[in-house]
Amino acid sequence: MIQFKLNGETVKTDSPPDTPLLWVIRDELKLKGTKFGCGIAMCGACTVHIEGAATRSCVTPISAIEDSSITTIEGLDSKEGNALQSAWVAEQVPQCGYCQSGQIMQAADLLANNPNPSDGDIDSAMNGNLCRCMAYVRIKKAIKTAASGEEA
Ligand code: FES
Ligand code: FES
Repeated sequence: MIQFKLNGETVKTDSPPDTPLLWVIRDELKLKGTKFGCGIAMCGACTVHIEGAATRSCVTPISAIEDSSITTIEGLDSKEGNALQSAWVAEQVPQCGYCQSGQIMQAADLLANNPNPSDGDIDSAMNGNLCRCMAYVRIKKAIKTAASGEEA
């Protein structure tokens, strides 16, 4: 049995230790905001925070997260997370929406560590989060809006 905190609640799973965290979150714990894209850490759709750090849950075995604190899009309630979610709505970022929770989780990590990122900082932090709908311009704009603290 492996125990960890998910969005502030203690949860347990008896899945095999090599089970990817993504499947435990989605299939056992029924939080569907975190998405499966590639399964090989190449797209960012499955991004969650582990102890605050953006991490690809599709390649993170649950054996690696025992007693850790995990945050998914459903529990993202930090100052940066709230600013980003408001900016995402104001800038109407999503198209199909599939990549968006991963994008926001990645951006929240960026702003927590770098409240005023340059264009280059944003490009480098968001580089591994793919969007098939090509919403990249709006994603970047929303990150800047959230960082500026201004209403869009
Ligand atoms: S599903 Fe994890 S990075 Fe693509
Ligand atoms: S909004 Fe469709 S994949 Fe990003």
